[in-house]
Amino acid sequence: MEKHFAVIGDPIEHSLSPVMHRAAFKAKGIEAEYQRFRVSPDNLGAAVSGLTALGFAGWNVTIPHKEKIIPFLHELTPEAKRAGAVNTVKVDSGRLIGHNTDGQGFVRSIETELVGTDSRGWFNGKNAVILGAGGAAKGIAFALADKGMNLHILNRTEEKAHELVGLVRVRGGEATGGELLPGKWLGQADLVIQTTSVGLKGEKFLFSLAEINPEALVVDIIFRPQETAFLREAKAKGCHTLNGLGMLLHQGVLAWEFWLGERAPLAEMWDALRNRILVVEKG
Ligand SMILES: NC(=O)c1ccc[n+]([C@@H]2O[C@H](COP(=O)([O-])OP(=O)(O)OC[C@H]3O[C@@H](n4cnc5c(N)ncnc54)[C@H](OP(=O)(O)O)[C@@H]3O)[C@@H](O)[C@H]2O)c1
Repeated sequence: MEKHFAVIGDPIEHSLSPVMHRAAFKAKGIEAEYQRFRVSPDNLGAAVSGLTALGFAGWNVTIPHKEKIIPFLHELTPEAKRAGAVNTVKVDSGRLIGHNTDGQGFVRSIETELVGTDSRGWFNGKNAVILGAGGAAKGIAFALADKGMNLHILNRTEEKAHELVGLVRVRGGEATGGELLPGKWLGQADLVIQTTSVGLKGEKFLFSLAEINPEALVVDIIFRPQETAFLREAKAKGCHTLNGLGMLLHQGVLAWEFWLGERAPLAEMWDALRNRILVVEKG
C-alpha cells in the first residue's frame, strides 16, 4: 500500500524536502508520496489531526511549528526532548512520536567534511563559536556540546545567547555567551557556525572576519545562496568553508531512516538536492 509523508510549515513553498525524499523513495523502489503543506499557526492542531486521520505515516515539521507541535504528540524521543523542538513525526500504531534530527544532521555534515581526519576525535575539547541563538542554533549547540566542544554563543539579542548557554550547561556542557560582536574569539575558534538569517538575501555580514583563525572550519547553515558573503570572506582568509546543504541532507537522511527503519539512499538524495539548487540558482 502506498505510504504518505509530508512537510508542514509556513512559508513552505521553497522547501527542498519533497525533492530529496521523493528521490529516496524512487531509489529504493518504495511506493510512497511526499507532499508539502502550508499550515498556519492557528491550524496546526487541525492539520495534525487531519494528517493522522488520512493515514500519513510521518511528516517533517519546519518554521514556525517545531516547538508548538509538541502538545499534539504522544511521545518524544530523547533528541526531541533535549532540543525542546521536533522536526520529524512518525505515526506508530496510531501514536505520534516526535523526533529531532537537526543537531545530529549538522554533526554528520561536519563529519562528512572531515573525512580523512579522525572525525570522532576531532570535536572533543575544541572551540566552537555559534553566531545566533535561534531554533537552529539550539539543536546545533546541544549536539556539539555532546561531542565535548567548548561553546561560545553570540546573539544580537544577548539574553537569548545567555539563555542557551544556561540550557547547555544544565545538560553538562561547556558554554559561554555574549552579544554578537567581533572579538578575540575570532582567532581562537576551531569551528565557527553562522546560524542567523543574515545573508539569506545576499546581504553583507554584520562585521569583518579579518582576525579569523585561518585553520578554522567555517560553516554558514544557509544553503540558498550556496555561498553567502560571510562564507566568501572566510574562504578568502584561507578557512575551509561549508554551507548548509549538507545539514539539510543529513537531517533528511536521519528522518527518512527514522520513518522507514532502513538505510537511506544518501547519494541519490544528495544528487536530487544539488540538481534542484542548480536549477533554482539558474532561474
Ligand atoms: N541548513 C539547514 O538545514 C537549516 C536548518 C534550519 C535553519 N537553517 C537556516 O538557519 C537560519 C536561522 O534559522 P532559525 O530556524 O534558527 O531561525 P530563528 O529561530 O528565527 O533565529 C534567527 C536567528 O537569526 C538572528 N538574526 C536575525 N536577523 C538578524 C540580524 N539582522 N542581525 C543579527 N542577527 C539576526 C536572530 O537573532 P535575535 O534573537 O536577536 O532575533 C536569531 O539568532 C535561517 O537562515 C535558516 O534558513 C538552515
